[in-house]
Amino acid sequence: MINALRGMKDLTFEESERFVHIVNTATKIATRYGYNYIETPILEETKLFKRSVGESSDIVGKEMYQFMDKGDNDVCMRPEGTAGVVRSFVQAKLDRRMNEKFKFYYYGPMFRYERPQKGRLREFHQFGCESFGEGSVYEDFSIISMVGDIFKELGIGYDLEINSLGCPECMPPYREKLIGFLNECKDELCEDCNRRIETNPIRVLDCKNETCQSLLKDSPKLMTNLCNSCDTDFKKLTQLLDDANISYKVDTHLVRGLDYYSKTAFEFVSNNIGSQSAIAGGGRYDKLVEFLDGKPTPAVGFALGIERIMELVQMPELSRDGYYLGAMDEEAIDSLFPLASKKRMTDKVTVEYAPKKLKAHLKNADKANARYCAVIGENEFKNSTIWVKDLVEKEEKTIVQNNF
Ligand code: HAM
Repeated sequence: MINALRGMKDLTFEESERFVHIVNTATKIATRYGYNYIETPILEETKLFKRSVGESSDIVGKEMYQFMDKGDNDVCMRPEGTAGVVRSFVQAKLDRRMNEKFKFYYYGPMFRYERPQKGRLREFHQFGCESFGEGSVYEDFSIISMVGDIFKELGIGYDLEINSLGCPECMPPYREKLIGFLNECKDELCEDCNRRIETNPIRVLDCKNETCQSLLKDSPKLMTNLCNSCDTDFKKLTQLLDDANISYKVDTHLVRGLDYYSKTAFEFVSNNIGSQSAIAGGGRYDKLVEFLDGKPTPAVGFALGIERIMELVQMPELSRDGYYLGAMDEEAIDSLFPLASKKRMTDKVTVEYAPKKLKAHLKNADKANARYCAVIGENEFKNSTIWVKDLVEKEEKTIVQNNF
C-alpha cells in the first residue's frame, strides 16, 4: 500500500468541510476589507525565497523542498505565500503605478521540511492577505483587526502579541548593541544562538532554550531603541488597538521566523492546540518590494495556518437541505432524472439509482441529510405523480410530477 508522505495529510469528509468553512469565512471577511483573489505558482525559483525570507532563516536554511528541475533550474516548493505575491506584484509592474493601493488575498498549500508533530506539517495550508502601497500604521491596525474579525466569525479565542522590529534607521545600531551583549554571554548561550550571533542576532531573542531565555532577560530591547518614526507608529498602533478594545501583549522578543519584516510584527496564538500555538502571523515589510527589484513600496500582510485553526473551529450545525429522489420499481428510475434536473436549478439533489422499498429510501434520505424524501412508487408511476415527505415538518403529500 502506498501512503501519503510523512507530514502530509489528506483532507476528507468532516475535515475538508472544516477547511472549506475556514477558507469561505476568511474570504468573506477579506473581501469586505477590499482584498482581491490572487493565485501564484507553488513552484518558484529558489533564489526568490533566499532573497526574501532570508538565507539565515530556518525556513530557507533547513526546511526548503528544493530541487533541480529537468531544465536544470534551481526551484523550490513555496514555504510561504508572501514572496510569490511580491514577485508577481513586481513582475506585473504594479510597483510603478504610484499612489495606487493593491490588496490581495490567497490560500493554498505551503511546504516546509520540518520535523512533523501535532500542529506541524510538511505540507500545510495558509490563508493570507498582502496590502501594497499603504505606509500608514492605520493599515497595520486594519490588518490586525481583519484577522480578529476572521477569528471572531469562526468562534475562535486568541491572544495577540505585537512588537516593532524597527527600520533601516534604528535596527542596525540596535543590532550592534545586541551583538555586543550576546558576545558578553556567548559561552552560556546554546549552539544555535552562538551561530546566530553572526548570521541573524535578532533571532537569538526567540530561542526556546530556557538558559538562553533567562540570560536574554537583560538584553537591550529594540522597543527602547526605536527611532522617532517607528516609536510614533508603534504607539499609534497600540492606541488604535486600545480604542477598538482589541487586547494584546507587547512581546519584545517576538521576532518572527522570516527576515523581511520591519516595524510592526504580530502573532495570534491559541493556548488550546499544544506547543505549535501560532495560528496566524504577519507584519510590515516595507523593504521587500525593493529587495525583489521593484520600486520602493510599503506593504503589510498576514497569513493564518488553516490546519491549526481546524483544531479550534466550531462548525455551524448543518440543517437538513435539498431533496432525495428514489423509485420503488426499475421502470420508474428514468423518470427521476428530469425531476432532479429541474430541482437542481435551485436545490441540492441526491438521486438513488436502484429501486428500493419506501423504508430504505427514507433511511437513505435521512443519511443524506435531505430536507425532502421524494419517491415514485407503483401508483405514482401510473399516475405521473410523486410522493414527497418533508423530513422536518413530518408532512407528506402526493403531487403531479409536472408540479414538482
Ligand atoms: P508564518 O508565521 O511563517 O508567516 O506562517 C503563518 C502561519 O502558518 C503560522 O502562524 C502557522 O499557523 C502556520 N504554519 C506555519 N508553519 C506551519 C507548519 N509547519 N504546519 C502547520 N502550520 C504552519 C508566514 O508564512 C508569512 N508569509 C506571513 C505574512 C504574510 N507576513 C506578511 N504577509
